[in-house]
Amino acid sequence: MRIYSYNMGNETLNKASKAKNDEFYTQLSDIEKECWHYEEHFKGKTILCNCDDPRVSRFFYFFYANFRTLGLKRLIATCYKNLNPDLFSQNLDEQAVYCIYDGTDRADDVFKDYDAFIKQNKWEVLKGDGDFHSPECIELLKQADIVCTNPPFSLFREYIAQLVEYDKKFLIIGNMNAITYKDCFKLIKENKMWMGRSIHSGDREFGVPDYYPLTAAGYRIDDNGKKFIRVKGVRWFTNLDYKERHEKLDLYRKYTAEKYPHYDSYDAIEVGKVADIPEDLDGAMGVPITFLDKYNPDQFEIIGIDRYVEDNPHYGHRFKINGKEMYARILIKRKK
Ligand SMILES: C[S@@+](CC[C@H](N)C(=O)[O-])C[C@H]1O[C@@H](n2cnc3c(N)ncnc32)[C@H](O)[C@@H]1O
Repeated sequence: MRIYSYNMGNETLNKASKAKNDEFYTQLSDIEKECWHYEEHFKGKTILCNCDDPRVSRFFYFFYANFRTLGLKRLIATCYKNLNPDLFSQNLDEQAVYCIYDGTDRADDVFKDYDAFIKQNKWEVLKGDGDFHSPECIELLKQADIVCTNPPFSLFREYIAQLVEYDKKFLIIGNMNAITYKDCFKLIKENKMWMGRSIHSGDREFGVPDYYPLTAAGYRIDDNGKKFIRVKGVRWFTNLDYKERHEKLDLYRKYTAEKYPHYDSYDAIEVGKVADIPEDLDGAMGVPITFLDKYNPDQFEIIGIDRYVEDNPHYGHRFKINGKEMYARILIKRKK
């Protein structure tokens, strides 16, 4: 394995901060906590993990280990290898690979040794760099029923756009900030994407490469010298339904004009906490984006997000009360 090092100019540093956000490895425990809620969706399906090196990805490992239990049809993984050398292309002799696993080496539910599977080297080399936009990766995407991965955050918008273009079911992990992207929010508003089941608050730990500069708070190095970092605002994004998202949110507050201020230039009231949503108001309400963790589409309708509601005279800006800008707000209405 060859290691290359480069002088760090500004350009490299810029790439560094981008690549830093892209190289976060999801832990098996987080994948398990989410994926077991969708057993009925996975049965008989082809799963694609298209930002995943099958030799290291815990997504691939999860579906490989539970292939029979989940009753999967096929499992496909493709990995990305940056072909333009920079500080982060450490193993330049490696190539982007893909793996198609159909479970034929297993007669029963018994999990076969993953290390033994890895040693069989069942990977094929991709022609290109494994970019999810590339024609060969799109061909594999077309074969998939459900895409499950942690895509590069710097490409999150285009990643989601591609899933929508190819009409795929998906279960992907990302950052909650993506909700405020106009096109991602549109999917949420139209009930074509929602938050997954298992993460609603707190932070999550991700593995990071050895080169990752651990200057931030909340990092850890384990007994084997592997680096981990805690990330806030992590959420699963999916279009696979699960029963808990249809559970009614219990509300106890009554509306009064004194308790709930009105926005300066938009006809809606401000509700600073999800628990304070009044049970008796039919008009528009602005709620924190964490409302989406509790959103039941049978109970509420999403009208928009502060800066992108069409009839907002200050389109592109957050709502204000007495001239003071609010935190990001989602506009909702009770369903009759
Ligand atoms: C956040 S990491 C997650 C890795 C893995 N899915 C996991 O959860 O452990 C995103 C991965 O996407 C890869 N990647 C970056 N650009 C990509 C692209 N254009 N197409 C496919 N994968 C890409 C990165 O190399 C990185 O390994």
